Amino acid sequence: MASERSKFSSKFGFIAAAAGSAVGLGNIWKFPFEVANGGGAAFVIMYLLFCFLLCFPVMVTEIAIGRKTQKNPVGAFVALGFPKWKFLGILGIIAGILILSFYNVVAGWAFGYFIQLALGNFEIGNQFGEFVNNIGRVGLYGIIFMLSTAYVVSRGISGGIEKASKLLMPTLVVMMVILVIYSLTLPHAFEGIAYYLIPQFSEINFKVVYNALGQAFFSLSLGMGALITYGSYVSKKDNIVSSAALITLSDAGIAFLAGLMIFPFVAYLSNGDVESIQGGAGFIFEVLPSAFESIGPIIGRIIGALFFLLLSFAALTSTISLLEVPVTYAVDELKVNRKYAVWIIALFIFMLGVPSLISNGDSHFFTNFVTYLGADKATNFMDFVGHIGSDTMLPFGGFLITIFTAYIWKKHNLNKEIEIGYPGFKGTLIEKYIDFAISYLCPVVLGIIFILTLLNRFFGVDMF
Ligand code: TRP
Repeated sequence: MASERSKFSSKFGFIAAAAGSAVGLGNIWKFPFEVANGGGAAFVIMYLLFCFLLCFPVMVTEIAIGRKTQKNPVGAFVALGFPKWKFLGILGIIAGILILSFYNVVAGWAFGYFIQLALGNFEIGNQFGEFVNNIGRVGLYGIIFMLSTAYVVSRGISGGIEKASKLLMPTLVVMMVILVIYSLTLPHAFEGIAYYLIPQFSEINFKVVYNALGQAFFSLSLGMGALITYGSYVSKKDNIVSSAALITLSDAGIAFLAGLMIFPFVAYLSNGDVESIQGGAGFIFEVLPSAFESIGPIIGRIIGALFFLLLSFAALTSTISLLEVPVTYAVDELKVNRKYAVWIIALFIFMLGVPSLISNGDSHFFTNFVTYLGADKATNFMDFVGHIGSDTMLPFGGFLITIFTAYIWKKHNLNKEIEIGYPGFKGTLIEKYIDFAISYLCPVVLGIIFILTLLNRFFGVDMF
């Protein structure tokens, strides 16, 4: 007997879950160091523009495909009548598995830092290198994180993912607001904010644009069917356009708040000289603990622990969505029991993440995994997986999804699906914009990004 597909119980539930997927390490860990690397406020402006102009239409498309077909990303293309396009769903699932394999490692670091700061160990900032190298410890945090993710996903859509997101997302926002208010009271806070918000347009170059776009796309969880999957659990009564707008707004809003929270700390620590602090993967892990320490042993401990707990929550709602994609596939297509699928897939992805886990110094082989053409230093396994799974496969997926929708499935079918739940959609400016974006703007821009990434990452072409 075919049982009825589960559903998010309300529009808010769906938005919390999808915003939870979007808001993650990308917003709080990656965004600030991308800002620091890439021209401060100029980067922020580009990022916001891309979120709304380019990513939002892709998001609407993914959700609509999911809701129309009520299927996982592979089954969705079959259900629409284009079985040849199954490969796109498969690519998406592979990308998601690759992303989760390394994402879980960083999420484990965040959780480990929460524990360290709760214990008052501010030294951890200077020991970042040793911390990520201590395989027993980060391995354990990684296991805890994957187990938590699997536990939530095993409880299903409304009872697991939705419930967790409805609890974690509002908590995250409250914690963030507290931290932002606190950080704005620090000495030199203003210099941090100025660096973050006053654009220097001379800083905009092609590289800033390129990074901002990649960041927006990753941050909104696009290009691999995560939102096709979540969309498949959305009620026909919901308005996809307003949901997507709210998800985009929450994601961009949280990234923005993360900057407001972090740059004052950085300015405080550097006595106002934000530029002197190096951006990079260790940015918040290396810099922030000393900032917390200098605000005082007790308050620093509370604020520090709160920050890394917040980061862990943000990461958890994202790992959940990454795991849900292959799980929905296994449940729909391979008819596997959800609980069984969850634990097997989680174990598999954890194992796949072990080389990433040990690629930060512990294993010489994985630490110096590849040297790209023309590069002067080796790339570790973890970054390598990121270059493939997120930097390359996501824009490629986004490119193909928009091509598919505009030219194969056809725009009027997309519009018809959107109209259910948004009867006034036809003839609106927003309809015209979405049609234009998915027919021309998105395929062209995402196609270019994909090619440039290939050339730049793997073939040593320096186009900047
Ligand atoms: N958006 C998340 C972040 O910013 C990461 C993420 C979760 C993701 N699910 C995804 C990225 C699906 C791409 C696709 O941290």
